[in-house]
Amino acid sequence: MTDNQPAPDGVLRLINGYWATGVIGAAAGHSLFTHLENGAGTATELADRAGIAERGAQTLLDGLVSVGLVEVHGGRYRNTPEASAYLVDGTPTSLSGFAKLKLKHMSGLTALPEVVRAGGPVHDAVTEVADNPHWEELVTALAAQSVPTATMAAEVLEVASAGPLSVLDVGGGSGVYSSVLLEANPAARSTQIDWERINGIARRLLAERGVADRFTTVAGDFHTTDFGTGEYDIALYSHIAHQEGPEDNVEVFARLRGALKPGGALVVCDYVVDDDRSGPAFPLMFAAEMLVKSNRGGTWRRSDYRDWLLKAGFRDVSFHAAPPATLVIAR
Ligand SMILES: C[S@@+](CC[C@H](N)C(=O)[O-])C[C@H]1O[C@@H](n2cnc3c(N)ncnc32)[C@H](O)[C@@H]1O
Repeated sequence: MTDNQPAPDGVLRLINGYWATGVIGAAAGHSLFTHLENGAGTATELADRAGIAERGAQTLLDGLVSVGLVEVHGGRYRNTPEASAYLVDGTPTSLSGFAKLKLKHMSGLTALPEVVRAGGPVHDAVTEVADNPHWEELVTALAAQSVPTATMAAEVLEVASAGPLSVLDVGGGSGVYSSVLLEANPAARSTQIDWERINGIARRLLAERGVADRFTTVAGDFHTTDFGTGEYDIALYSHIAHQEGPEDNVEVFARLRGALKPGGALVVCDYVVDDDRSGPAFPLMFAAEMLVKSNRGGTWRRSDYRDWLLKAGFRDVSFHAAPPATLVIAR
């Protein structure tokens, strides 16, 4: 090693990045962040509360300190503010379900060398399969990520003070967007298009939130479902554009323009990359997920969204950072 050669530590940590997915997923699976939040502070206490081996608890604690999600002071462990905010079970923004799901998905990436050679999925594609059971697990785990973006969309569009509003949510999944918008505005109504089993999950959420009477679902493929004409004030397309190819997105955007009233707004939420593809880090990496799981999807640039939306008939396009996602609002 020469004097100015960097140490291998950083590269080794990246190569072993799956350790982080494993440790965080296993810790979430045993509710370690929740037990820490409730006062357990040693491997013995955690092992006792979680029903796991003390050696296992200590190993998870070491890994969590390593990745910066847990701190140790005077022999006692506690969650960092990030872990408290996002990994304790049962809160609306808890990502612990997502951490468990990603651990299950991990083996799928072993196909990546073959996938990059082929330029797409080598086993079954996920996103193009009608009514794929994959979505049931995903939408519930994803709901926590959609709470902040739905809240931001409601704020940017001043939904609370907008009076009677009609909303169309394409691929609405868990129903989080409808729930946030309908709770913000008691005169709003929302329609979600998704596969029937997913719509069932959304109806349960909206019923729990006490707004099911203003929520309607339409079952079917959004590529072929009629969106109607001039009916909606707001259309939502969240975490869908990345599973679709450019032509599909333009086609859906054009039909959504037609479904909106004059002056209505389309909200696209997605992992958007800079035009020169130099960042941000999370959306850049997410492209690998779409290569493995979709035939035409990807992480699209700001300029792609702007071009597609203008082509589809929108006149005004703005971008609002909601890391790791971006809200694209078009009128
Ligand atoms: C990644 S999830 C996004 C859920 C939600 N919009 C959110 O941001 O939280 C994708 C959703 O689109 C639905 N979906 C995917 N392809 C679809 C299609 N061709 N027709 C109808 N729904 C579809 C899935 O069932 C799932 O609910």
